[in-house]
Amino acid sequence: MKEILRFAQNDKKADDSKNIEKKQNMSRIKVELRKDQIEKIGEICQSFNNEPGELINVLHKTQGTFGYLPAEVQEVIAKNLNVPVAKVYGVVTFYSFFTMIPKGKYPVSICTGTACYVRGAEKVLDEFKKELKIQVGETSADGKFSIACLRCVGACGLAPVVMVGEKTYGRVAPEMVKDILAEYKD
Ligand code: FES
Repeated sequence: MKEILRFAQNDKKADDSKNIEKKQNMSRIKVELRKDQIEKIGEICQSFNNEPGELINVLHKTQGTFGYLPAEVQEVIAKNLNVPVAKVYGVVTFYSFFTMIPKGKYPVSICTGTACYVRGAEKVLDEFKKELKIQVGETSADGKFSIACLRCVGACGLAPVVMVGEKTYGRVAPEMVKDILAEYKD
């Protein structure tokens, strides 16, 4: 078990560094914010009294509204909270929960917590990557699917667990991946 844990931890470190690299690449893509979007970010900041100490909560709520946190959104938050853009960027890249990449219409989340990992989550993840031709943290070219890894989602009895949007799939085997994706052909 120790060996598995060590492997999983190493894997997480590799995932984390890939995520940071990915986030850095995505930060170079320019997004033009509309006036109403800038106002919405302002409202979110205001709901936390423009308090710099509420940065994480502001980012959380903003991502909940926009789906992701491109550099332009971070700049507006930095201005409203009167904190350096570098600080906002540092927080976004540090926490794997935050993303600068727009999610797919159907975000695929694979639990790679210990129970799921032990029961083959990695093979399931590999199958999704193969079928969708994207890596963790990426979105398919048609914007339909994105892949993310989650830590334990609290359904270990159903391991390995996969979520597509709000729908949860339990005891997923690699052979089931094609059929799961086929449900979202529209
Ligand atoms: S480890 Fe996957 S649900 Fe708990």
